[in-house]
Amino acid sequence: MTKPRVFVTRLIPENGLEMVRQEADVEVWQDPLPPPYETLSQKAQGMDALLCLLTDKIDANLISAIGPQVKVISQMAVGFDNIDVPAATAKGIPVGNTPGVLTDTTADFAWALLMAAARRVVEGDKFARAGKWKTWGPIDFLGPDVTGATLGIIGFGRIGQGLAKRAQGFDMRILYFDRRRHPEAERKYNAEYADLNTLLCAADFVSLHTTLSQETYHLMNDARLKLMKPGGILINTARGPVVDPEALYRALASRTIAYAALDVTEPEPIRPNDPLLTLDNIIIAPHIASASFQTRAKMATMAAANLIAGLRGDRLPNCVNPQVYAHNQICGSHG
Ligand code: GLV
Repeated sequence: MTKPRVFVTRLIPENGLEMVRQEADVEVWQDPLPPPYETLSQKAQGMDALLCLLTDKIDANLISAIGPQVKVISQMAVGFDNIDVPAATAKGIPVGNTPGVLTDTTADFAWALLMAAARRVVEGDKFARAGKWKTWGPIDFLGPDVTGATLGIIGFGRIGQGLAKRAQGFDMRILYFDRRRHPEAERKYNAEYADLNTLLCAADFVSLHTTLSQETYHLMNDARLKLMKPGGILINTARGPVVDPEALYRALASRTIAYAALDVTEPEPIRPNDPLLTLDNIIIAPHIASASFQTRAKMATMAAANLIAGLRGDRLPNCVNPQVYAHNQICGSHG
């Protein structure tokens, strides 16, 4: 029996690839950079399934061009704003993601950015390497205390709550804003619900943990950045476009806020001539919040499990558009 054909859009941890190889003929895009859109589109037309990453644009055009043989799109990430899910749903294609396994690793990294920004770790490192460290300076590299400060968390899902858990160990006052209240987590992490403006005015640290949607696109704009305290620090490990980068530049350059620490940018990668790169009061990491050995291996396993389930016509263990199953029962068209 011929095996199904799967396109994997980059080299992923071997444990995941091996699972897929047991089940399918696998073509892996070997280049360190993602496949160009046209290439991805062509590949998708001949394959039975795609294992993709957040760097792949799987838009409505690409989805409409792929053949009826495509049984599943499995993304190795929790976020899936790069995929036009309604278009996939309309075609009856289940889309998988990898929630849960990266919660702690991502919350750890948000915490690392918060600490590094507050205590100016990256600036200090550059200073020491540049041979500028001449003595112990009583007023050099001062930053705000983290212990006892107020943390504002925007988006109180798994990762936002993971950050609250870490903040508890630092006796922080925790405020959160979300579309809905989370009463259990409020009790567990001693977190207070606040409306967005109240949170922005009160927090010493603001950390973003929302998905990217029309509602959250450029959520942090000029007006909202102005609401933050002058000593305020903004952390973004969610998605770049949740922050308007030009507004952020203005806020940091004018010291409207004190500092930012980003793991995600708009666009990604950040352009070498982006004005944000000229500032001292920002830390920029290359979207690595989930990059631990263990977590990436778990993400690969989960993405492979979704993909295999889709190929077999089973329900994906983690499906972002379960409506496809109801649709398929009615139409009998897929899976
Ligand atoms: C990373 O950003 C993810 O969505 O998994």
